[in-house]
Amino acid sequence: MIPISKPIIPKNAKKKLLECLKSGWISGAGPIVVSFEREFARFVGTKYAVSCTSGTTALHLALAALGIGPGDEVIVPTFTMISTILPVIYVGATPVLVDSEADTGNIDVSLIESKITKKTKAVMPVHLYGHPVDMEPLLKLVEKNRLAIIEDAAEAHGAQYQLKKVGSIGDLGCFSFYANKIVTSGEGGMVTTNDKRLAEKLKSLRNLARTPKKHFYHQEVGFNYRLSSLQAALGLASLEEVTTILKQKRHIASLYRKLLSLLPHVILPVEKNYASSVFWHYAIVIKKTSPKSRNQLAEMLAKKDVETRTFHIPMHIQPALVNLGLFKGERYPNAEFLSKNGLLLPSGPNISDRQIATVCSLIQKFMS
Ligand SMILES: Cc1ncc(COP(=O)(O)O)c(C=O)c1O
Repeated sequence: MIPISKPIIPKNAKKKLLECLKSGWISGAGPIVVSFEREFARFVGTKYAVSCTSGTTALHLALAALGIGPGDEVIVPTFTMISTILPVIYVGATPVLVDSEADTGNIDVSLIESKITKKTKAVMPVHLYGHPVDMEPLLKLVEKNRLAIIEDAAEAHGAQYQLKKVGSIGDLGCFSFYANKIVTSGEGGMVTTNDKRLAEKLKSLRNLARTPKKHFYHQEVGFNYRLSSLQAALGLASLEEVTTILKQKRHIASLYRKLLSLLPHVILPVEKNYASSVFWHYAIVIKKTSPKSRNQLAEMLAKKDVETRTFHIPMHIQPALVNLGLFKGERYPNAEFLSKNGLLLPSGPNISDRQIATVCSLIQKFMS
């Protein structure tokens, strides 16, 4: 079986975990959590990084730290994972959707302005499948309208927009360390920022908004979203290997491109001139004109023991959200097309060239 992705257990994982166990620091209060935050901030290029339990809780903390709540609107892409949108619901705000660019699948920045109202407080660009959103026009737009940017960089550790790493461009950047991510702690998350006040607020909120020097006294509603020392140990060991993993991701992408580029019905992932993508997953799209559908291709590959994953399902057709009365009658053609026709190919960092060649030869035979 060729899996869609298999986590790498970092070389130093055992050593770092044992150090934690020996020291007795296993909770979220240990020094290794602080080390992981310091190293991750250095990697992203921000002054601060605040760890938490997942990418979803990172986004929740980011919205809460900005004070976004009932009556506010937050602009988000419809084509993303539900984890981008749920935190907007958790804080009681309203998500407002925008369609995708046809090629990157990222939020189409040119469509955002028409969605801004007096209630809009923030925009959440998602750097999908490792390709950065076009941030320059977005920065101009948010400056003009005095909005905040929360980058959802859960799928894009190390990706660059021009010379800046994603997660360092907006007011806040949110990362996931789930097992299939480029940096992993099994489960976990991080919020990055250059704003000291926001960093302090994030630290307080993820730790039940405790009052310093007054135990068990709370002036506002916080959360227990603390990352444990054991997770931080794994995360630190994973971060030590990030350069190698990023190189391997680009190698995987270039091999897929070489082997699939002549297929007339398959659209390969792009890399815009402003972007350095990390190709978190190698994401292909089957053309409308193709005699074979995406589902037929996925079924054939499954029969041959190759695991794939279909693209995200847009938010405007998610029952969990539609049942809340949201997005009635809204249509987003690019997101719908990508969702119906996109397929993620196996691209975990430890996939071999031979396995990629096997996948490509099956696709070539089936699609040509
Ligand atoms: C775009 C996006 N945002 C947020 C998340 C949430 O991350 P987590 O699974 O760590 O909660 C994910 C997870 O894969 C994601 O793909």
